[in-house]
Parts: sequence; structure tokens; C-alpha cells
Amino acid sequence: MFTASELLDIVRGHIAGLQFTRTPKGLYDPVSYVLSLGGKRIRPVLMLMAYNLYREDVKSILQPATGIEVYHNYTLLHDDLMDRADMRRGKVTVHKVWNDNVAILSGDAMLVLAYQFMAQCASEKLKDVMDLFSLTALEICEGQQLDMEFEQRKDVKEGEYIEMIRLKTSVLLAASLKIGAILGGASKEDADALYDFGVNLGLAFQLKDDLLDVYGDPLRFGKNIGGDILCNKKTYLVIKAFEHANTDQEALLNDWFTREAFDPQEKIAAVTRLYNEIGVKALCENRIVEYSKRASESLNRVNVPAENKQELETMMNELMHREV
Ligand code: IPE
Ligand code: IPE
Ligand code: MG
Ligand code: MG
Ligand code: MG
Repeated sequence: MFTASELLDIVRGHIAGLQFTRTPKGLYDPVSYVLSLGGKRIRPVLMLMAYNLYREDVKSILQPATGIEVYHNYTLLHDDLMDRADMRRGKVTVHKVWNDNVAILSGDAMLVLAYQFMAQCASEKLKDVMDLFSLTALEICEGQQLDMEFEQRKDVKEGEYIEMIRLKTSVLLAASLKIGAILGGASKEDADALYDFGVNLGLAFQLKDDLLDVYGDPLRFGKNIGGDILCNKKTYLVIKAFEHANTDQEALLNDWFTREAFDPQEKIAAVTRLYNEIGVKALCENRIVEYSKRASESLNRVNVPAENKQELETMMNELMHREV
């Protein structure tokens, strides 16, 4: 079996070697740009790790693994446009280096490229893989739509938030694992248990992303801190802040979330101060631990020797303590 770090090296090497030689260059340059910025590459690594629970020839699924990463990067191009984000992986976002239309169209091209890569898998597995991939891609659109709709709402409940992040984030991690399992010839029970592991891992992962968006180190996180606050994103932190605020704090939160004109840094500082007073960081951290535990329980159901699952467990724990 391979370690996660060996698989990461394989994925990185493979993606670094990709070349997009079609024209016009203006369409493909942003594709190469975003793929060259790095990123954690967790989705293709998860796919290889799941496959590796059943088979050793991990390099045979590098095309679908590339497909999942290209797909993820496509969602980032469009997400940064929707979230008005200027920084990604420590570099300027595509719509800022080029423009909005380039981010839309190069993103569209990446979605198609992702399908081309994904379809390069064993023909007897093709239908199962493409059905899951397509359903997942639709669910991510649904999650992203809810994420945007929630910006306009003040009454988003915790359950709605969890369903939104399941759709926008978890299902892609879950599908990465399940596609790896399907390609590896896993039983349906194992493939489903790995999917559940991915869902719970994904919920914890997005909660951590929301936390880093406020409390991350600006030099390491690679995205601008406070972006979610500026967009009025309904993160777990906001929902809990409203839930636990006293009357004064609630009035201040309401004021900041409805103000039309404000100084961005002032709003970030004021809302962060309220989060600190209300103590929502610890509540979010507790939730991360809870979903990590649920993920471990799902992983326990996967019917392979415990020592073979250790790398997945370790990777999850590292992701929960990440700074990036
Ligand atoms: C960012 O994903 C989008 C979220 C789901 C939070 P990652 O945190 O995996 O981003 P990269 O690929 O490592 O840059
Ligand atoms: C991630 O949500 C969901 C997708 C990219 C589909 P975010 O909007 O929180 O991701 P970041 O923080 O921009 O990476
Ligand atoms: Mg975003
Ligand atoms: Mg977003
Ligand atoms: Mg985020």
C-alpha cells in the first residue's frame, strides 16, 4: 500500500505534466494557471487512497483522479467570481488576472475537460462512475445556489446550513472516495461506507474552512481573511452568533449584516469581535470534532483490515488541524 504522501507526490507529478495544447490560448491559459497554483489535491488523493484499499496499481486511475481535481478547480473559478474573491492559493484569482467572462468560459471548458478525464476509466465501470459524477456535479450547483440564496436571508437554521455544505462541499469528497472504491472493485457496502466517511469528513472540512476564513493566518491561508463576513455568508459562526447573542449583540450583528455602505476592514473587525465575545469559535470546533467522529464511525464500517484504513484516518485528522 502507498502512504498518503506518496500518493500526493504521484498526483502532483501527474498534474504538473498536463499540457493543454488546443487553441485559443486565451481559453486554456487560465486553466493552466489555476492548476499550477497547487492546492492540497485532496480529492484525487482520496480517490487513489480508496482505490488502494482494493488494488495496488494506483497509477491506472490517474485520469479519473485528474478529472476530479480539474472539476474541483472549475468550481473554484466560478466560486471566486460568485464570492467576489480576489485571492486563491496565495495568488490573484482568474477573474482578477483576466476578467469575469474569461473565468466563466475557461471554467466551462474545465468542466468539459473534467468529464473527458473522468470518462477515461475502465469501460465496465464507466456508467456507475459517470452517473455518480454527474449527480455530484448537479448537487454542487444546488449547494452553491443555496449558499448564494442564504446571503440574503437572516433566518438560516443550522440544519439548512449543514444541508447546504453537504451539497456544495461534502458530496465531492464523498464521490472521490466512492469512485476510487468502484474502480477498485469494492463491494457496494464498502463503497457506500466510504461515501459516508466522505460526507462527514466534508462537513468537518467545510466547518474548518469557515473557521479559517475568519481566524486563519492571512499569509498561510491563501485566501483573503473575512471574505465570508463581507458577503454575509451564513456560516456556522454566524448562525451560532445569532443563536447565542444577547439583545445588544444581536442588534449589532443585525446592523452589520444590513448596512449597505461600510469600510470592509471595519466590518470584518467588528463582526470578528462579536464572534469572540459570543464564543462561537469553540462551538464550531466542537462540531468539527463531532463530524470527525462520525467520519471515523463510517470508516470503521469499511470491510478491510484496520491498519489499511489508518492513512485515511490520519489524513482526516491532519485536515481538521490544517492552516491552509
Ligand atoms: C476549497 O477547497 C473549497 C472548499 C470546499 C472549502 P480546498 O480547501 O480543497 O482547496 P485547495 O484545492 O486545497 O486549494
Ligand atoms: C466552497 O465554498 C464550495 C465550492 C467551491 C464548490 P467556499 O466559497 O467556502 O470556498 P472557498 O472558501 O472560496 O475556497
Ligand atoms: Mg468562495
Ligand atoms: Mg462560495
Ligand atoms: Mg470558504
